[in-house]
Amino acid sequence: MPETGERLQKVLARCGFGSRRVCEDLIEDERVTVNGRTAILGARVDVATDIVSVDGVEIGIQPDFVYYLLNKPVGVVTTASDTHGRPVVTDLVPSEPRIHPVGRLDMDTEGLLLLTNDGRLTHRITHPSFGVDKEYLAHVQGTPSRGALRKLREGVELEDGPTAPAVVAMPSPGLLRLVIHEGRNRQVRRMCEAVGHPVLRLVRTRIASLADATLGPGEYRELSVDEVRQLERDAGSGSPESDG
Ligand code: URA
Repeated sequence: MPETGERLQKVLARCGFGSRRVCEDLIEDERVTVNGRTAILGARVDVATDIVSVDGVEIGIQPDFVYYLLNKPVGVVTTASDTHGRPVVTDLVPSEPRIHPVGRLDMDTEGLLLLTNDGRLTHRITHPSFGVDKEYLAHVQGTPSRGALRKLREGVELEDGPTAPAVVAMPSPGLLRLVIHEGRNRQVRRMCEAVGHPVLRLVRTRIASLADATLGPGEYRELSVDEVRQLERDAGSGSPESDG
């Protein structure tokens, strides 16, 4: 077993097998193998090449992937660097390892934004063919009629084509909850504008199964292992045209 690399109990803990202490017990109970050989406490693994199994089942050890859920405030740009020197979302999370935002929220839109260095998951969440739901709360001007709500649900004609059917509710007059799975530029704002009700405030409240009403504006947290796995399941249930 390699002398360098990451401690096995740390890798197991990161993959969701419990605390470091619990993972040490797994190793001491001889339930863990590295490249087919029973592991010993103190072993180090190279997560890029070693095959780690627990109870005979190989575990996916994704090297150095991080996943942050940020509550983006108004006035922050969804990019990793801005040529105009404006505040950017990556200023609000740790700078190492380098990560990128998953999709984008307009500068004047608030709410949940994922940031990660996992390119495969990014593609699956942002590509419309995977059908990942995003939920928004839109405070709009005026009170949309039933006809306007129906148009939003059935799809509205925008300059870049009709929108896909959306789930739309109006929990209170002038407040819309919209669930869409496309990610077109300023889509919710343009949809509401198209039915005569410009958006006054827009907040993204859910990405697939991920929601968190406890994060204040500008706050972030890391996703749990279970949340990442659920997200992978959510993003894997569509029928992609391509999964490049
Ligand atoms: N729709 C919008 O109009 N803006 C966003 O930021 C996201 C969806």
